[in-house]
Amino acid sequence: DRYDLLVVGSANADLVIGVERRPAPGETVLGSDLAVHPGGKGANQSLAAARLGARTALLARVGDDDHGRLLLDSQRAAGVDTDGVLVGGAPTGVALITVDPSGDNSIVVSPGANGRLTPGDVRAAAPLLAAARVISVQLEIPLDTVAETVRGRGPDTRLVLNPSPPAPLPGEVLAACDPLVVNEHEARYILGEDAGEGPHDWAPALLALGPRSVVVTLGAAGALVADSRTGSLDHLVSPKVEAVDTTGAGDAFTAALAWRLGRGDDLREAAAFAVRVGAAAVTARGAQESFPTLEEVDAL
Ligand code: RIB
Ligand code: NA
Repeated sequence: DRYDLLVVGSANADLVIGVERRPAPGETVLGSDLAVHPGGKGANQSLAAARLGARTALLARVGDDDHGRLLLDSQRAAGVDTDGVLVGGAPTGVALITVDPSGDNSIVVSPGANGRLTPGDVRAAAPLLAAARVISVQLEIPLDTVAETVRGRGPDTRLVLNPSPPAPLPGEVLAACDPLVVNEHEARYILGEDAGEGPHDWAPALLALGPRSVVVTLGAAGALVADSRTGSLDHLVSPKVEAVDTTGAGDAFTAALAWRLGRGDDLREAAAFAVRVGAAAVTARGAQESFPTLEEVDAL
């Protein structure tokens, strides 16, 4: 009895304010009313996958507080298995988010309890790791915990990593990625000086660092997919949509990709589906509230 997807990652309360423009250093601007949403790259991914119909579990840590309960409630309501969500040790992580009129966001995350998800917590969840077809990780939890997840995965468990927010990655982690999923910022961070001109250079350059496959997300332009098995480089275009709030769209993309890979799609098919899920997610406010069902993806 296996999970389609296990997400090992963060859970945050998203404190969101709409702004006309972001303040410069030393400046104050007035924004919209405050909205509080369940978020965090890990919790967003598990919820996105569950909403699409995947059998999903989340391994995370939240505080024993209202934000933690908000997150647990939203995960359970979506059908995510939350037995792996640990409670206590620090307040629930918080993300301070501003969204501008074009739907673009800027985010500052205070990790809180996410920073206390330890390698020991991962070892204690060994049965959960062994039961997953695909494990997805991001970098809002300690890097040691990510590395322990990589080591603890089953022999036929596929690993998907979105290195966000970017940090230096051990070779052992990079080599396990299938795929490494990056946006433009993350690609440039990892490649540094050697980034080259654009995505068509980045994908092969990232592959050379060890992952078996690479996906570069391009926002409204879709995604670029590079697979070391076939040597292929494919561009999947996104349907045209009206962007309202891009928060969490990358998480929905990665969750959809991971789920479909676990179901046996090849990387190109999985990415073509994921591009549509990401597009649907930018058409509504918030992160998790905006994640589509399978019917909504089909309707796009
Ligand atoms: O990727 C979007 C997420 O980033 C938000 O939900 C916020 O919590 C931050 O983790
Ligand atoms: Na959204």
